[in-house]
Amino acid sequence: MNKRIFLSPPFVDNKERLEVEAAFDSGYVAPCGPKVDLFELELAKLSGRKYAVAVSGATAALELIFAHLKVDKTWIAIVPTLTFIATVSPASRLGAEPWFVDCDSTGNVDLKLLEKALADAAKTGRKILFIAVDLFGRCCDYDRLEKLCRKYKAKFVCDSAEAVGATFGARPSGSAGIAAVYSFNGNKLITTSGGGAVLTDDKKLADHVKKLSQQSREKALWYEHKEIGYNFRMSNLLAAVGLAQLSKMGKILKAKKSVREFYGRCAEGKRLEFLPKVEGENNWLTIMLLKNCRERDRLIKLFEADNVETRPVWKPMHLQKVFNGCRVYGGNVSENLFSRGVCLASGAGLTKTELKRIAKVIDKFAAERK
Ligand SMILES: Cc1ncc(COP(=O)(O)O)c(C=O)c1O
Repeated sequence: MNKRIFLSPPFVDNKERLEVEAAFDSGYVAPCGPKVDLFELELAKLSGRKYAVAVSGATAALELIFAHLKVDKTWIAIVPTLTFIATVSPASRLGAEPWFVDCDSTGNVDLKLLEKALADAAKTGRKILFIAVDLFGRCCDYDRLEKLCRKYKAKFVCDSAEAVGATFGARPSGSAGIAAVYSFNGNKLITTSGGGAVLTDDKKLADHVKKLSQQSREKALWYEHKEIGYNFRMSNLLAAVGLAQLSKMGKILKAKKSVREFYGRCAEGKRLEFLPKVEGENNWLTIMLLKNCRERDRLIKLFEADNVETRPVWKPMHLQKVFNGCRVYGGNVSENLFSRGVCLASGAGLTKTELKRIAKVIDKFAAERK
């Protein structure tokens, strides 16, 4: 059997190992320490923010922001329907009522439908949260989203979990809203094996989120608590991995772009489409669009037969059983992308031999289709 080609495996080498060893030797084998502090400074720089708080994942990062905002069942959480569940689950767990909004052809939220949802939510007199998603590492229109959220007095938080290293014009991903989050999960553009960060210009939010992530311990000699917190802080060892990853992010971005270009060449003359390009995208995953779900499933099967991991585009949230009965604005565009879209193997470390294997599968698929 051929060696498995994963969808988006970590791009790591001896550099990460040496950074972890150095962290071990420093004695800080704990969820605090100099590597965490340094990682946060670098993340704040990367996102153009004043503050970054490193935590155990983007899901945790979102929950911390919402806990700070005191999101509860009196809130409406407006969320793009085409996303990974972690965009909505923290707000949902805290009791907010999810309202889903369809995307446009790029996969990011449809601004007209969003405005309709915001206007309807404003009429209810309830507090409104809007959680944007930079889907597949492609930033949404930060300027227009901020304007819309100001107009309807919605709190704007941006889920940039998939968009580390991407840009919207001159703005880096993570710079939108009152706060944004990054993910450093094993499959993300850069990884800490598991991890995430809150990014913000609001000192109160940054300080509170950091405190909440450490059991909300007060400054005292003993364990003193005035509110319920979480145990979500990032460990010093993982921050060491993150620092090594940040130092090679340029290389990873370049490699991902050349993978995207490789797929473009493979598809030439074969009537194969891709999710439209978005300026500043990080090419985290390359997404191919087939004619229908039958073709999508056939391509996935052919890749699987060669031990290559692929995956359908995220199943829209309004189609998930757990959100049965929730309000949705539109829905056809995301349903169409789900039925036709395949996330292709997009590792930054794909070798020439692996690329040849992938190209062969695409050739076989195209030949069958004629
Ligand atoms: C859009 C999006 N949001 C949030 C998350 C959750 O990130 P984490 O695994 O770091 O909690 C992910 C993926 O894991 C994601 O793709």
